[in-house]
Amino acid sequence: MSDERAAARLRMALVERLRLTGSVRTEAVADAMSQVPREVFTPGASSLERAYEDRVVVLSTDDRGLPDSTVSQPAMVALMLEQLAIRPGMRVLEIGTGSGYNAALLARLTGVEGEVVSIEVSADLAGAAARRLAGLGVHVDVRAGDGWEGVADRAPFDRIEATVGVPDLPPAWVEQLAPDGVLVTPMWLRPGLELAVAWERAADGTLTSVSVSRCGFLQLRGPHAGPGRTHALTGDLAVIGEDLPPAALDVLRDLLDHGAVDAGPVLGPVDVRLTGFALAEPRSVLFLGHPGDGLTWGLFDPERPALAVLMRDRILVYGDRDAAVDLYYGVAGAPVVNADRLRLEAVPVGTDFPDAPGAGGRAWTVEREHYRYRLTEM
Ligand SMILES: C[S@@+](CC[C@H](N)C(=O)[O-])C[C@H]1O[C@@H](n2cnc3c(N)ncnc32)[C@H](O)[C@@H]1O
Repeated sequence: MSDERAAARLRMALVERLRLTGSVRTEAVADAMSQVPREVFTPGASSLERAYEDRVVVLSTDDRGLPDSTVSQPAMVALMLEQLAIRPGMRVLEIGTGSGYNAALLARLTGVEGEVVSIEVSADLAGAAARRLAGLGVHVDVRAGDGWEGVADRAPFDRIEATVGVPDLPPAWVEQLAPDGVLVTPMWLRPGLELAVAWERAADGTLTSVSVSRCGFLQLRGPHAGPGRTHALTGDLAVIGEDLPPAALDVLRDLLDHGAVDAGPVLGPVDVRLTGFALAEPRSVLFLGHPGDGLTWGLFDPERPALAVLMRDRILVYGDRDAAVDLYYGVAGAPVVNADRLRLEAVPVGTDFPDAPGAGGRAWTVEREHYRYRLTEM
């Protein structure tokens, strides 16, 4: 079988799998994914088969060897395209061109009457993506630059899609959205809680989510990257937390150096309560690597100073033992939250939410530099 026919078969099989799992829901997205050759955009894939697995393919790495650009997992690509609900003729902005694969899908969805602009912070990646797209005869206006600013000279856009995560909405994206537009972006909200949110903007400027799904994305790079949420501690150990300046990280390293005391068992199954705990507790942290294997949840209070962590069914505490009490009751009292059923609202900092949260449902707020976010259960 020729490579082209083999690729077409693998593409169809991938699309069928994504239909079965619910990531592909419409004929438009199925058609786009059936047409665009992913192998052209995945130079890092070791084989044709690998290019059509439902997996991330690394495109480039930073000086520590960590990925700084990837071709996203096809299931996530499909879910976000479904969230965008693109119609032929629309004007679309993508932030994070990467390989150009998603830009090619956007071009397919907008059709010959539509327009796709895509911006990438790495000039090398932008150049390579532009060449791949041109080689396939796909028209996309690829820009090299900081996507945090959007692309003002081509605004407004009917759809804006960020394929890179942000902890806060860049005001330029909201300003460059057409009145009936939809903005889809991965948002980092709390440790362990990153959501791909489709936002619509009301006349009063409030943004409301129309759909939400869990995701995991590389975070925005460049001058507006902010302090970052993942910090290296020692060796392989890293910590994810909300507000961890260097002085707080020194306190944390010092606590870890001094060893822990077993503070007793946790109450009941905790896994299902961790999202609720993280939403209600800004001091929640998530460790990657040691201590323990994989992910370890905890509560870190640099003021006390104290760290309590969940180690399987027990709580270990470093420093002030009251942290163990806070963690115990924080998790035991946390509600079970289904992230897919969260509704988000965003208003500019300094303004109030237009209405009180709906009666009965729980609500949490997250404050950031440009916007305030309210999450409620539907
Ligand atoms: C997950 S990859 C995007 C995948 C891409 N859409 C594709 O189809 O291959 C995220 C991309 O966002 C880029 N990026 C990070 N910060 C950026 C910024 N400030 N402006 C524009 N692009 C940025 C990264 O360099 C990386 O290529």
